[in-house]
Amino acid sequence: MLDLETALRSAYERHLSKKDGATPANLETAMRYSLLSPGKRIRPRLALACARMLGLSPEAALPAALAIEMIHCFTLIHDDLPCMDDDDFRRGRPSNHKVHGESLALLAGDALVALALEVFLDAAEHVPADRVLAALRRFAWATGPRGVIGGQAAESLLGKTSSLEELRRMHAQKTGALFSISLLAPMELVGIPADSPRAAAIDLFARELGLAFQIADDLEDATEATAKDDPTSILFYLGDEEARRDTIGRLENAKAALTEHWKEAAQPLTTIADEVIRKIRDAHGAS
Ligand code: IPE
Ligand code: IPE
Ligand code: MG
Repeated sequence: MLDLETALRSAYERHLSKKDGATPANLETAMRYSLLSPGKRIRPRLALACARMLGLSPEAALPAALAIEMIHCFTLIHDDLPCMDDDDFRRGRPSNHKVHGESLALLAGDALVALALEVFLDAAEHVPADRVLAALRRFAWATGPRGVIGGQAAESLLGKTSSLEELRRMHAQKTGALFSISLLAPMELVGIPADSPRAAAIDLFARELGLAFQIADDLEDATEATAKDDPTSILFYLGDEEARRDTIGRLENAKAALTEHWKEAAQPLTTIADEVIRKIRDAHGAS
């Protein structure tokens, strides 16, 4: 069984700690601080679970899985900066900028984006180049203005007159894009045609899982005093029970669509969906 932490560390060492002395020590320390901190690693786990479902080897899926975690890590470092969410803690430790300073935190995030591209391209050692290119195109999309970065910007546009549809669109970018690429990258690497029913089932599952994960996070963070008044929280639009029921129902439908196509091979992915469903059920919520 592949140990993700070890794989993440060794990919990092391979790319960054090259003994050419080119990466300044302060930058390396700041990147290492966040990348190797104890995250849940749900995105790379999803990529490997999807690869298993599709019969893609873990070695072939690993570069994409690691690259996605690097992009995620970059978004978290920047998200915590004083000009964004101004959070002092992340993953149970002081945020990157609290330890390394704002300018290095900014640069560590930037550098992780570029490193992610290098790592992603390692897939070409296992898979034909045209498939890597197709996956990389999706990866760029998920990372950029139509994906996670766009989602961060869209969040600040939500206000008291926003609709549930607008919230879902923002979540689909902010959280959904990296969940989607975690499944779509392995799909492209095995060459499943993007316009096939199987691709549609993977896409639906990825999108619903991303939305559900963000809503679980909203419910966990919610306090009665804030959530009902905050247009970036689901509880501004739906009551607590309705938010849970609606989200779980949509995810169950997406699970069913996936299982219809892959039968028991879908289990590694549906197991992760069940974890998210449990998180939604168990979140204390605002009431
Ligand atoms: C945090 O993501 C940001 C959200 C999308 C809610 P995770 O909850 O996956 O964070 P880590 O990687 O486990 O720290
Ligand atoms: C984190 O989002 C960054 C991205 C999802 C891109 P949030 O601000 O919603 O999550 P936390 O609460 O900081 O982890
Ligand atoms: Mg934040």
